[in-house]
Amino acid sequence: MDNQGQKSRSSFSGKVGFVLAAAGSAVGLGNIWRFPYLAARYGGGTFLLVYIILAVTFGFALMITEIAIGRKTRLSAIGAYGALDKRWSFLGKLASAAPMIIFPYYCVIGGWVTKYLVVFATGNSAAAAGDTYFTDFIARPLEPLGWFFLFIAATAIIVLFGVEKGIEKSSKFLMPILAVLSVVIAIYTCCLPGALEGIKYYFVPDFSDFSPMVILAALGQLFYSLSLAMGIMITYGSYMKKEVDLEKSVHQIEIFDVGIALVAGLMIVPAVFVFSGGKGDAINAGAGLMFITLPKVFDNMPLSNLVGACFFLLVLFAALTSSISLMETVVSILQDKLKWNRKVTCIVVAVCALLIGVPSSLGHGLWSGFQPLGMSILDFFDFISNSVLMPIIALLTCIFVAFFIGMDQITDEVKVSSNFAGEKLYRLITKYLAPVCIFAILVSSILNSLKIIVI
Ligand code: PFF
Repeated sequence: MDNQGQKSRSSFSGKVGFVLAAAGSAVGLGNIWRFPYLAARYGGGTFLLVYIILAVTFGFALMITEIAIGRKTRLSAIGAYGALDKRWSFLGKLASAAPMIIFPYYCVIGGWVTKYLVVFATGNSAAAAGDTYFTDFIARPLEPLGWFFLFIAATAIIVLFGVEKGIEKSSKFLMPILAVLSVVIAIYTCCLPGALEGIKYYFVPDFSDFSPMVILAALGQLFYSLSLAMGIMITYGSYMKKEVDLEKSVHQIEIFDVGIALVAGLMIVPAVFVFSGGKGDAINAGAGLMFITLPKVFDNMPLSNLVGACFFLLVLFAALTSSISLMETVVSILQDKLKWNRKVTCIVVAVCALLIGVPSSLGHGLWSGFQPLGMSILDFFDFISNSVLMPIIALLTCIFVAFFIGMDQITDEVKVSSNFAGEKLYRLITKYLAPVCIFAILVSSILNSLKIIVI
């Protein structure tokens, strides 16, 4: 169904559909790939504790705001801010830019995941464990592009089917499998002899590890992981029915997202402790944890190909439901703006994303000489969206709600279908705490990048 105008706008069939689709957007590479290495680097249990506190406060407030804006206006980000206050339509444009930047490079990584799934499924775990396997692979000109095209095509086909038949149906099918698969793999790794050491490090907070950097890292990860400040939850909110309890849905999405992130850490951190050099290796692996360190870990395990294939299948499902949400957001923005039909819009978005994604893919090989701000092209897009755009959008959204349209607009929308038990907390965070903390993230991430440029 085309969502032209408010009356014919598509919607999720009900509460379960909405929660699973929004959780599908939230649970992605951020949970399985980024969260475990951040947790390993920033003190295990200490990071977990900070992350959970931030999720139930800041994450809760921002997600409520975005979904309520979407449901109230029945518009995607590009029109939603302007519909509430004309002077703020620029913020809608800014929020719409974020998924357009993220979608192409997210699909490049989705392509890498697809490749690793096939490598393990065809019994090549020993090859994947080679020291230079990953760097050799991403440096090739054509092969990563092929996987990237495949991943975008899969995403586009689901989005083409629309909100209810495509996104909701695929989420209802993929999300439960993802949850079961991650718990099974986590139980398997936690039962390995010697895993206890890693489990302890992961769960028991050691406050000597605490620093302001832990909070900043956790807050940045939280926004990314919950798909906030990118117009996504506004778009999904615009498809939400009025009778669905908004506050309860937000709690459920958060439980799903934080739960899968915790379980992902349990799959990975103890395994690295057992098969690699313990804490040091987990911390030093950084972003390479999933593609470089983990394949080595799997290769040392019994049933290495099966475990590896299950793991990458899980990551693939997670990445797919997130890329669907990214593409849907872009499609819905263009449909709202240009009144194109869904099919044409999907094709145009997929082709543009292919073209924009090519430099991110080639940036690790053929075009590696081109290093904007001293980073690879993919890292540059990731930096612009996550460290610059997202904090700016989140900060402006809080200011917009608290000081321009008034918080009652949001709280009234939430109360249409829920008691809003967290209203006081919501007001406190949106008006005072969030603007100050988000401003701190922004400054620190910019200073950090300046340091990198200077060095
Ligand atoms: N939340 C997704 C994850 O954790 O991987 C990633 C993501 C999806 C980021 C959608 C941004 C986005 F707009």
